[in-house]
Amino acid sequence: MCGIVGYIGTKQAYPILIKGLRRLEYRGYDSAGVAMIGQSGSLNVYKTKGKVDNLTDYCTDKDISGCIGIAHTRWATHGEPSARNAHPHYSQSHNLAIIHNGIIENYADIKSRLQEKGVTFASDTDTEVLVQLVEYIMSSKNLTLLEAVQTALYQVIGAYAIAILDKRDPHQIIAARKQSPLVVGIGEGEFFLGSDASPIIEYTDKVVYLEDGNIAVIRLGEELKVMSIHGEEQALQVKKVDIDLGQIEKGGYPHFMLKEIFEQPECLTNCMRGRINVEGNQVTLSAMIDHHQKLLKAKRIVIVACGTSWHAGLIGKQLIESLCRIPCEVEYASEFRYRNPVVTKDDVVIAISQSGETADTLAAIQLAKERGAFIYGICNAIGSSIPRATDTGTYIHVGPEIGVASTKAFTGQVTVLSMLALCLADKLGTITKEEYQLMVSELTRIPKKMERALQANEQIKHLAMIFTYAKNCLYLGRGYNYPVALEGALKLKEISYIHAEGYPAAEMKHGPIALIDSEMPVFVIATRDRLYEKVISNIQEVRARGGRVTALVTAGDELISQYADHVIELPDTLECFQPLIASIPLQLLAYHIAVCKGKDVDRPRNLAKSVTVE
Ligand code: F6R
Repeated sequence: MCGIVGYIGTKQAYPILIKGLRRLEYRGYDSAGVAMIGQSGSLNVYKTKGKVDNLTDYCTDKDISGCIGIAHTRWATHGEPSARNAHPHYSQSHNLAIIHNGIIENYADIKSRLQEKGVTFASDTDTEVLVQLVEYIMSSKNLTLLEAVQTALYQVIGAYAIAILDKRDPHQIIAARKQSPLVVGIGEGEFFLGSDASPIIEYTDKVVYLEDGNIAVIRLGEELKVMSIHGEEQALQVKKVDIDLGQIEKGGYPHFMLKEIFEQPECLTNCMRGRINVEGNQVTLSAMIDHHQKLLKAKRIVIVACGTSWHAGLIGKQLIESLCRIPCEVEYASEFRYRNPVVTKDDVVIAISQSGETADTLAAIQLAKERGAFIYGICNAIGSSIPRATDTGTYIHVGPEIGVASTKAFTGQVTVLSMLALCLADKLGTITKEEYQLMVSELTRIPKKMERALQANEQIKHLAMIFTYAKNCLYLGRGYNYPVALEGALKLKEISYIHAEGYPAAEMKHGPIALIDSEMPVFVIATRDRLYEKVISNIQEVRARGGRVTALVTAGDELISQYADHVIELPDTLECFQPLIASIPLQLLAYHIAVCKGKDVDRPRNLAKSVTVE
């Protein structure tokens, strides 16, 4: 949610800031803005509603000089998307400018106190309250910017990543974080700031991830200083980021989403590299080596996650219960955190998150930790907040995911869950050696099978045209394929804005069947597995009511084509790994339908990639 960029050095800041905003636009894109201290010493703030292109058009005839600046791309929480509510926000005197990601929960209270003192406000945002508070403290108590920020942050309830400029001190940026990510890049005589490392990696691979409650004093010509809110200096933990630029560019594809769908075979190979041996018969996860006692003794596993990661969790539950015989529950993190759930020290809580920053998942981890559970993270973004809050975990290593609709992270999460379940089952002896080896070696064949599934792209592109005008769609699956149906429906909703529902195929007759008529496309995952015959019956129930069926079938299946209007063939695999293959045509289908409808696939309306507010 919201992207933050900053630069201080000897180069012109504007091009660096704009490039950074473009890299971070996936985090929010309802307005964008930039603040720079220009050559003349003025603090210039420019901001517009809409995407970064609108901002650059607006800035064509403006003074964009200056070697220090901050910039922001917004996902609105308080105040409608508009230029007025876009960041940066000036303080009343226009001496200060702030950008902010997060929510100041007690902003209304602070605002009315400041209004009583005569402060006037120019926007409806919670962010402006913070910069006005800092200015009020600076002038009324005669404090420096750093001291005023420290004092102000004491009074603030909520989450924030902020950066502030003061035109009277044109060699300094003050930044701070609490529950919203912030990274400082250290270059040669220059510093960068980002909500994540993507706007920074082009210039330096040396970064410092700020911890909660940290304030960074970034001064030109001096060493980076990081301190706590109380002013205690913190030891600098400089890390090396290992992302190459190609990973965050489109590489010839029209959209990040399509690139990320096609990358999946390679991503899964990377995910398994060093974890499955070359013979393809043994999985080793370092988390299992270091913490096997805790994991093997788990009386229960609780998976917490949101959205697509929650769907991966539903597959994880089936893997863990059927292979390891450990009871496993899957919870929406946002519900779990407020439900007073029963969690004990005998539980292992698995938190799944692509971004590693989802506020609800972080809060769920906190709650589970307080109750003594052992926390295992499955994340993609290296060094993000969730891996740092967990006891152990496994990165999915699928590379940066930029498309707002999650694709490769989903299959990466399912792959890690598969490896984890296999490791546990092997150690617990709940599957035989033969079963274990068969499954491990099949997992290594999945990338090749994904490549075959991707060959259906042209067929799916044509099919997509038929469904472009649908108002509603139904996705049906059973067993391991039920979460795939949920995920397929979510992908379509997110990027094409067509209403879609995923349902367990047999549940349909308990209600949703009433919706079925010739206008309703129904996508059924009907691969050859234990429930194959049952799913055929479900297809017939749909057909009998005039529904139009598109079936995802195992290659060579000739039976289902008798009942379905369209079939998409998938390579055969073990039932438990079918989601890794079956999700691909559904991702492609959502993508092509959205493209046919002319939607902005990588930046769907109202969404943001990283949900750092609750
Ligand atoms: C859907 C999607 C979201 C995320 C959800 C959780 O395509 O991307 O539903 O899965 O916001 O995000 P993470 O995995 O970053 O915690």
